[in-house]
Amino acid sequence: MNHRKDLIVRQKITIPHTELIPALLQELPQWYRQQAEQRELPWRSSPTPYHTWLSEIMLQQTRAQAVIPYYERFLNALPDIQSLASCDEEQLMKLWQGLGYYSRGRNLKKAAVEIQQKYQGKLPADFDLLLALPGIGRYTASAIGSIAFGLPLPAVDGNVLRVLSRALASLADIAAPATKKALEEALAPHYPQGKIAGELNQAFMDLGATLCLPKGKPHCAHCPLKKLCLAHAEGIEQQLPCKSSPRQRRIEQRTVLLLTMQGRVALHQRPARGLLAGLWEFPNLSGKLVKEDVETWLKRQGYTWLNIRPLPAAKHIFSHIEWQLSGWQIKLASSSGSTVAEEAPPFVWATGQELAEKYSMPSAFQYYLAEIPSEKQDLYQ
Ligand code: ADE
Repeated sequence: MNHRKDLIVRQKITIPHTELIPALLQELPQWYRQQAEQRELPWRSSPTPYHTWLSEIMLQQTRAQAVIPYYERFLNALPDIQSLASCDEEQLMKLWQGLGYYSRGRNLKKAAVEIQQKYQGKLPADFDLLLALPGIGRYTASAIGSIAFGLPLPAVDGNVLRVLSRALASLADIAAPATKKALEEALAPHYPQGKIAGELNQAFMDLGATLCLPKGKPHCAHCPLKKLCLAHAEGIEQQLPCKSSPRQRRIEQRTVLLLTMQGRVALHQRPARGLLAGLWEFPNLSGKLVKEDVETWLKRQGYTWLNIRPLPAAKHIFSHIEWQLSGWQIKLASSSGSTVAEEAPPFVWATGQELAEKYSMPSAFQYYLAEIPSEKQDLYQ
């Protein structure tokens, strides 16, 4: 019998020096309490399960300082799980506008509905049940579990991976999911129950954000772990962590068309599935179009125009795609009006105010929105 098991290579990750973990954890709570006061993050002043959940979802791909105004605006509009569960999609997307990764917002609402139906409107205080909710992965379930419910769950993200790779002088590749799992397993037995569990996780987050920096020189002189940190002792903190390079992003060229007519600008709704699903965008075409290309397109649509001017180039980076954007502003003649008005989809013609209040537009296009601030009235004439 030939099972060829010998050909299956299972990567076994070993984290070195794990015997240091209890001593490292010992140092963190006191440091956390002292410095946390200075960070003044609003979700920390009342860490209810809803507040913690909302903040952790917003913080998944966005820096804490950038999240603060979104978090406050969101809670003003939707102060509890019940209001989130019953809000409408347009309001939700408007509240999320600018944060990016819009599926986070949609999942939040889906999860709120599920929480209403299954858990009487209260987030469950259980890792597996949290993990089963839309938009909640292992890290977020652990962060909510520890911060809001005091469960002994290490929340291992890029910060923890970096801090501990350095402290333990670990050469394990932090891009490998197995490394994250191994570190979770090494930490879990040492996590205490109660408020301190959340403090430990947030201490790692703060350490990673303020001292044990990913780029440039880390601020080791102020680090609470400096006496224990093996990378610091060996002077190799800037060589760690080891991280294999991520997949290359696909580059796409797109040309954005800012079509204005009679005080309105053309908007198009993206398809219900895929990248930036259901959000509103300025009409845009594949490739980098020169003026003649744009004119050909306009003629084909039956538009007449008063002037065309180029807009600056922009770049927008998604996790797997990079959009290289160029743009044209086109002022259509009002005589295009009859043709355009009859042509219902694909465009909606919005005023500046409607665009600001009603239509959710991802930041990739917000850049071009800056090109038509409302005071530039002439554009809308
Ligand atoms: N990043 C993720 N969660 C965070 C938190 N609770 N505080 C600060 N930064 C974070």
